[in-house]
Amino acid sequence: MFGFCPILHGGGEGGYTDLPQSGTRFLVAYLLVNDNQGLSFSGWFMILVTGGAGFIGGNFVLDWLAGSSEPVVNVDKLTYAGNLDTLSSLQGNPGHIFVQADIGDRAVLDALLAQHKPRAVINFAAESHVDRSIHGPEDFIQTNVMGTFRLLESVRQYWSALPAAEKEAFRFLHVSTDEVYGSLSQTDPAFSETNRYEPNSPYSASKAASDHLVRAWHHTYGLPVLTTNCSNNYGPYHFPEKLIPLMIVNALAGKPLPVYGDGMQIRDWLYVKDHCSAIRRVLEAGKLGETYNVGGWNEKPNIDIVHTVCALLDELRPKADGSQYATQITYVTDRPGHDRRYAIDARKLEAELGWKPAETFESGIRKTVQWYLANPQWVANVQSGAYREWVGKQYGTTAGAAQ
Ligand code: NAD
Ligand code: DAU
Repeated sequence: MFGFCPILHGGGEGGYTDLPQSGTRFLVAYLLVNDNQGLSFSGWFMILVTGGAGFIGGNFVLDWLAGSSEPVVNVDKLTYAGNLDTLSSLQGNPGHIFVQADIGDRAVLDALLAQHKPRAVINFAAESHVDRSIHGPEDFIQTNVMGTFRLLESVRQYWSALPAAEKEAFRFLHVSTDEVYGSLSQTDPAFSETNRYEPNSPYSASKAASDHLVRAWHHTYGLPVLTTNCSNNYGPYHFPEKLIPLMIVNALAGKPLPVYGDGMQIRDWLYVKDHCSAIRRVLEAGKLGETYNVGGWNEKPNIDIVHTVCALLDELRPKADGSQYATQITYVTDRPGHDRRYAIDARKLEAELGWKPAETFESGIRKTVQWYLANPQWVANVQSGAYREWVGKQYGTTAGAAQ
């Protein structure tokens, strides 16, 4: 029977140490200790996540460390979407090792894998906003395609050299999206894992490419991979460039609520913590090389979502003048190539792995609005100069987002 004992190796300023070639900082290292014989070696009771300072990755890291003593190495480039405020409750927690780095940086990845010897790598890191991909696709190709490729190569090198038992147990889980399947008509059945890939935006094309790389690394090299394709997430720590947090933040600031086109596009919404539980379940029991669709059976037109947010705010934070937040709704120019409908058929994940979401849309959206009302400082901190520049570019001056 093995016991696991994390040992802190602090060092350098504030407990951080510099990694030679890259200037990357890391906080601690762990030893795995055999209780009975005193044997020890680095890692193995450890996972490595990428993009863990973003919306879903951040929620995943917080949930993981709330429910497990297994440490997390968190590799994030800290783009505009990466936010260490999300992880502030982990300050001083030796189970969280944050490293600011690009998933495309082979030297750093190789060094981190060699040092920490994770039993699994979960890839959240990506450029994730469709509208930004339309304005500037380059970063999406760099991170989502080239970054995933370099990460896969680094992981393959690490995994190939593992002893047999660890090699067998290792997992690479790639977090992807339902957008790779394209757009549904009103009457089409929901996306299943066997749907053709038909990505329509630079974002979804770059995610589709990354999914194909992950698949190929399994078929060609035997890398033990799992892929999840999830529908739209919402919840705490969501960057307010995406529909739900943007509507909450703009409503509270008295700004227009910009609805694209006719507002009748349909998305399938899942509370972010349910996505995190699905990822944990797939990591634990998913079949190698398989993909799992993740969704909560919550298809809603955008305009209904906006009205729901407005109604919750009317209840929880009524306006001083007695008017309703819905009066701020403004129809704006549609997104180019806007996918009309997404819907996820999650029956494979439910039947094979026994996963079920904990939240209904009604409970999840109420929690979300309450979270934004309780955390104005988090919102204020993400609204940097770069964010304001984006809002100006995307919405012009007539339907500007909160600043
Ligand atoms: P996000 O934009 O909030 O966070 C992305 C994180 O990745 C940020 O912390 C950012 O700093 C980091 N990052 C970006 N480029 C990087 C790089 N080159 N190296 C290292 N870190 C980098 O995104 P999110 O909404 O949390 O999405 C996470 C993953 O889940 C993405 O792969 C996305 O495609 C997928 N996904 C998102 C949704 C959703 O509704 N948000 C749904 C399904 C799947
Ligand atoms: O489906 C999963 C995807 O969901 C993820 O892969 C993406 O990373 C994530 O960003 C999300 O993509 P969407 O494009 O669906 O999310 P977004 O919040 O940008 O938009 C949701 C819907 O709301 C979409 O139909 C566009 C619309 N919208 C969005 C914004 C920002 C508006 O009407 N007005 C807006 O201002």
